[in-house]
Amino acid sequence: MIGSANLNVMIKAARKAGRSLVKDFREVENLQVSTKGAGDFVSRADIASEQILKDELMGARPTYGWLAEEGGEIAGEDPTRRWIVDPLDGTTNFLHGLPHWAISIALEHKGQIVAGVIYDAAKDEMFFAEKGAGAWMNETRMRVSARHRLIESIFATGVPFAGRVDLPETLQDLARLMPACAGVRRWGSAALDMAYVAAGRYEGFWERRLNAWDLAAGIIIVKEAGGLCQALAPEESIVESGDVICGNEQIFETFAKVIRG
Ligand code: IPD
Ligand code: CA
Ligand code: CA
Repeated sequence: MIGSANLNVMIKAARKAGRSLVKDFREVENLQVSTKGAGDFVSRADIASEQILKDELMGARPTYGWLAEEGGEIAGEDPTRRWIVDPLDGTTNFLHGLPHWAISIALEHKGQIVAGVIYDAAKDEMFFAEKGAGAWMNETRMRVSARHRLIESIFATGVPFAGRVDLPETLQDLARLMPACAGVRRWGSAALDMAYVAAGRYEGFWERRLNAWDLAAGIIIVKEAGGLCQALAPEESIVESGDVICGNEQIFETFAKVIRG
């Protein structure tokens, strides 16, 4: 697929940051046996990735705004456009040497996400989409899955950790959904969870209290793959609320009914 100039800038930035993270990830795998652990090293890898993305994206489009996990927000000269960036989604996996993490870049225009890139650098899987141009993984066009029976479907979520207050809600969701479906996965990267829904690898995903950078790119990728993506309270904005539910069109209503209770 031939993308727009903006999409090409995003893909180039993701590849460059991906190379840096892959190099650091090899080092992290070695650090697993050290008693000091890899925490500081991973924070530095995360910050280095964000710096590369910022140099590439802001270098190419200096008037756009910027919202990223590590370096906060910068208002752009052009108030209608901003980059929304997670330089490393799936940090806990990265820290533990688990090859399931990604870079996520979204472009927002007038409050709508118009392009998204999620790059799984360890597996060299580049998921991307642009408004009206479909969703892609490397050279392959993606479509959400066609499964429409809950009992044959698998879903993903993020289970709150380290004392987060929303654990009971998620456990209640799981108690309702798990007996009715073929399985629930918790893989530790919300960005890749959304990319996998778009790729038809699982039928749906939901998670509460995410940040804009975790899910912004996923919204357009799921939609352009033919899926539905909403906030848990359907009238709210996904990016602002941070609560998301998405899935293929056939399963969405049944799935959303179980999760929304
Ligand atoms: C996290 C991942 C995880 C989700 C967390 C996020 P991070 O992002 O997306 O799957 O459950 O809520 O914070 O911290 O690895 O960038
Ligand atoms: Ca994240
Ligand atoms: Ca992150």
